[in-house]
Amino acid sequence: MIDLRSDTVTKPTEAMRQAMAHAEVGDDVYGDDPTVNALEARTAELLGKEAAVFVPTGSMSNQLALRAQTEPGDLIVIDGASHVILNEGGAAAALCGVTMKPVPGHHGVFGGAEVEAAMEPAHPFNPGHLNPKRRLLFIENTHNAGGGTVWPLPAILYACEVARRHGLVTHLDGARLWHASAASGVPVVDYAAPFDTVNVCFSKGLGAPVGSALAGSAGVIQRARRFRQQFGGGMRQAGIIAAGALFALDHHMGDLEADVRNARVLAEGIASTEGLDVALERVQSNIVRFQVTAVGAGVFASACHTAGLHMLPSGAHGMRAVTHRDVSGDDIRRALEIMASVLTVLRDGGALAEA
Ligand SMILES: Cc1ncc(COP(=O)(O)O)c(C=O)c1O
Repeated sequence: MIDLRSDTVTKPTEAMRQAMAHAEVGDDVYGDDPTVNALEARTAELLGKEAAVFVPTGSMSNQLALRAQTEPGDLIVIDGASHVILNEGGAAAALCGVTMKPVPGHHGVFGGAEVEAAMEPAHPFNPGHLNPKRRLLFIENTHNAGGGTVWPLPAILYACEVARRHGLVTHLDGARLWHASAASGVPVVDYAAPFDTVNVCFSKGLGAPVGSALAGSAGVIQRARRFRQQFGGGMRQAGIIAAGALFALDHHMGDLEADVRNARVLAEGIASTEGLDVALERVQSNIVRFQVTAVGAGVFASACHTAGLHMLPSGAHGMRAVTHRDVSGDDIRRALEIMASVLTVLRDGGALAEA
């Protein structure tokens, strides 16, 4: 089975498993797991921040960023198709009590003008206490639902500059920040610089089985630790999993460029396959969102799965395929063959004509 559902499906290598098995550990709730401490220090350094806290998931990392920097009732300025809105089970409302102000983005990307427009202009006739407090600008890079969109650095700088002028704090959901950097050549530290807090994931593309981290100032991260405990994220001998993340940072970072190249090959093959459609300019990192024009996405996804290719349907005709370190260039060529032959079979069987 060629599994392109997500870059989270990777399995730890034997060398990573060895590193995990032999990790030095302690009780991290008491702060004495040396491997977790090393990972937190390493992540903070990579992102140019004072401190970082290790958490099991990117969702918890995002929620800690919100909880530590907002009050219930505050408003988050954000793209409407962000992961934290669509795919975190409503946690921002349930755990943090915040509301969302979606701004019009272009596949997840917007700029300072949109942030400016999201502010309620102050005027004596508009008592400020009527409005929820605009508190935090939230940016996702790369943007998952947008199709792995890579934010241009100038757009980030402009949006954050406007946010700061209006007194907002800023959070970057960099679940795939590594991919943004591999695709654009912009160092992760430059992407992270304008933000108060940054989430990164070690289990998306980097090949670690578990783990994310939130980085920021020492004060914010200290506060985030309190909420990590409150959310049930205090882990004990977590060095076992932190060792997988450290191994991934040491050995797998350089492989992400191949994933970006494979996504481009996949997208170009899809573009030249009758019955499929993709906007090539939207394929910017390791995520390929494309359309099955002649049949429902569910039918297509099921038929591909039966033929040995696993992908996710997304909406009536949308599909998502994600490249990662456990699929090779040969797998991508084979995936394209499977898609073409599935379409032929569906066409011959009349499914395309009926659709
Ligand atoms: C952009 C983005 N942010 C956050 C997350 C959440 O990560 P996790 O699945 O580790 O909770 C994901 C997961 O895919 C994601 O794509």
